[in-house]
Amino acid sequence: MRGKFITIEGTDGSGKSTQIGLLMDYLNKKGVDVLFTREPGGTPIGEKIREIILDVNNREMAPETEALLYAASRSQHVREKIIPAVEEGKIVICDRFLDSSLAYQGAARRMGMETIMEMNRAALGGVMPDLTVFFDLSPEKGILRKKNERALDRLEQEKIDFHKRVYDGYKQLCLKYPERIKAIDADRSVEEVHLEVREVIDGLLGL
Ligand code: TYD
Repeated sequence: MRGKFITIEGTDGSGKSTQIGLLMDYLNKKGVDVLFTREPGGTPIGEKIREIILDVNNREMAPETEALLYAASRSQHVREKIIPAVEEGKIVICDRFLDSSLAYQGAARRMGMETIMEMNRAALGGVMPDLTVFFDLSPEKGILRKKNERALDRLEQEKIDFHKRVYDGYKQLCLKYPERIKAIDADRSVEEVHLEVREVIDGLLGL
């Protein structure tokens, strides 16, 4: 039986990583055959591409190059890991996928969501998530959460506008794909958010 492909999305500081950890514990305890992966990365080739993309020394990287590198990492990931796992019946949980490109490169870098969708068509090879969980937290609140961890530097302050555009991009995607994307209000306690994540995942997996 075919498995499921679930992607997890959110802006910085939305609690995405904490919630993924709790979800993995929950699914493992339930005995679900789950595979966790992430983007950019997920494969040896993808991890090398990730290093190039996230290397702070690569200041001259053009937005188009960046978008294509994310798509290249995705192309390898889909073929080497996601499709085979789903065909084996696994539940694949992926930390960021296509919607990150649409929100970050399309909306925040202002390349346009349609352009990014076009760039990703070959990478996707027809694969789309069965479900996307979006942790919905305003960028102002996300930044405040991070601020509690450590002081924001000047660049991070400047990035607030960028993160607002990322957030607006995600909100547009929620309106465009209401069947696929489930937005979860992340401005609540860790436990409350986790319980809603469980409900959504239980619904999809029939748990
Ligand atoms: P990472 O350290 O994994 O961040 P996070 O914990 O927030 O997921 O770095 C991934 C960064 O890459 C993150 O800032 C979002 C960005 N990104 C894009 O801009 N486009 C994409 O397609 C993907 C997958 C990620």
